[in-house]
Amino acid sequence: MAKDWCIGIIGGSGLYDIEGLEDRQWLMIDTPWGDPSDEILFGRIGNVKLRFLPRHGRGHPVSPSDLNARANIDALKRAGCTDILAISAVGSLREELEPGRFVIAEQFIDNTRQRPSTFYSSGLVTHVSMADPVCPRLSEMAAKAITACKGKVATGATYVAIEGPQFSTRAESRMYRQWGADIIGMTAMPEARLAREAELPYALVGMVTDYDCWRATEQGGEQVNVAQVVAQMQENGQLAREAVLNFIASLPKTRKASPIDTALDDAVITVPEEQD
Ligand code: ADE
Repeated sequence: MAKDWCIGIIGGSGLYDIEGLEDRQWLMIDTPWGDPSDEILFGRIGNVKLRFLPRHGRGHPVSPSDLNARANIDALKRAGCTDILAISAVGSLREELEPGRFVIAEQFIDNTRQRPSTFYSSGLVTHVSMADPVCPRLSEMAAKAITACKGKVATGATYVAIEGPQFSTRAESRMYRQWGADIIGMTAMPEARLAREAELPYALVGMVTDYDCWRATEQGGEQVNVAQVVAQMQENGQLAREAVLNFIASLPKTRKASPIDTALDDAVITVPEEQD
């Protein structure tokens, strides 16, 4: 069934608000999984509804390992979202993905260790497909919106998610490159898994802030630090905000159904109990 667009935006480091929304209101949404990272900013741009959640909370109090991704995704679903566009600061594992570049993820490698990563458990056992973890339609629209704002974009990237909060060791960083990862971050997993379980098409836009620590230089070895990440995010923040507005403006009037809207239809393996 056709639904109207209601876009959930998850803002990463450096993106804590969206200006220019009509009917702006910050609202806390209760979920059975606990509290999301912050209130959700409700608003609209013309006919498109928008729900914005700063992933780490305003002021950045929530560490990657403490993110309640279940509450965040569930709160966005309860807030009416049809789709989620997630934005994240990422490190680059490839020479050609320089700081300042926007990178659209196509695949994920989950190297996180201590995060609840499903809404389901015994009683209702569910195995949803994660073969293609992002929504190609959203990813393509996001890439076009960034290009229209003169941002440099790369597509088709593999994102490796690490537990953090420490950055990687140099050996890990080099290993991730061998695994085929292109960008590295601490937050897109299990967020993308949970979005799929919630039947929400999801796309991830990484904003490259650094080259992590795999790269050898004449001075020895380069290594990412927080000052570098924050400075680059500030430089990219305005472009990211413009791209979000452009993305909303470019959405087709009606939202055609996505196969992800019904991802759970053939995913539940528990046999339903017979009703008397
Ligand atoms: N976020 C931004 N840069 C990062 C890096 N190098 N490693 C993990 N997360 C990051």
